[in-house]
Amino acid sequence: MFSLKLKDVEFKNPIMTASGTFGYGDEVSDLVQLSKFGAIITKSVTRFPREGNPPPRIHEVSSGMLNSIGLANLGVEKYVENKIPFLNKIDSNVIINIAGTKVEDYVETLEILEQASDKQVGYEINISCPNVKEGGQQFGVSSKLTKELTKELRSRTKRILIMKLSPNVTSISEIAESAEEGGADAVSAINTVSGMAVDIKNKKPILSTTVGGLSGPAIKPIALANIYKIYQSIKIPIIGIGGISNHRDVIEFLLTGARFVQFGTINYKFPNLVTSVTSNIEKYMEKNSIKQINDLVGLASKNA
Ligand code: DHB
Repeated sequence: MFSLKLKDVEFKNPIMTASGTFGYGDEVSDLVQLSKFGAIITKSVTRFPREGNPPPRIHEVSSGMLNSIGLANLGVEKYVENKIPFLNKIDSNVIINIAGTKVEDYVETLEILEQASDKQVGYEINISCPNVKEGGQQFGVSSKLTKELTKELRSRTKRILIMKLSPNVTSISEIAESAEEGGADAVSAINTVSGMAVDIKNKKPILSTTVGGLSGPAIKPIALANIYKIYQSIKIPIIGIGGISNHRDVIEFLLTGARFVQFGTINYKFPNLVTSVTSNIEKYMEKNSIKQINDLVGLASKNA
């Protein structure tokens, strides 16, 4: 039922963890059966260590969550030393998320990882972090820079290359087209939506950075509308992200045009949801006489 491939890599199911919500895997391995996922996508790693933004940097809102972590991470050299040994033990595909400020940051990080490890099946490139002034979003809002960065990275790896897109742009389709033209194997969408919350007692914004990224069920319709637009414009696979909470949500994303999906904010509530979701998708497929999950992809967009 779940005969799924991206490039030449097989996936046991279409569900991946969204970057940032499972750390590097090791932090959650007591809570979560990582092997149940089609792929584990790790928290963004950058060329050099980053402390991230000052607190408060996470805040729950109705139907979602605001975050402004600011790419806190240990930097690629420590990542290789401390995190790769654990990732090597995971019985699932591992995709490493990379963020950066300049083209060289992304390139050097990828090259270090290429040399240091064979475990990862690919990379997800964050060109859409909303919480750092120079956190990659300058690439994600420009078709030209997206294409240039994709090309640079493409020439340095044969592994899966996924560009992660921001919804906070004028035309997400144009950015997706640039990623495709630059040689990406897939795009993932959407990253968080710009959001803000206010403390009415102190009469101040709650997040230290004022504005952060909104995730969770609140953004699901926004994600679907963006995937619908991307699906009209490119041929490479789309990995859908945004407020998925159950198997019905996954099916909505597939019908809109996503071939894979990612679980993000929901992991904080139900870290083992993946097991029941995959069996419920199988039941839906049986009931609807769908033999291959790929047969669902884009049906609703074609019927629009
Ligand atoms: C962060 C937030 C994001 O939405 C993202 O894609 C990458 C990083 C962060 O604040 O760390």
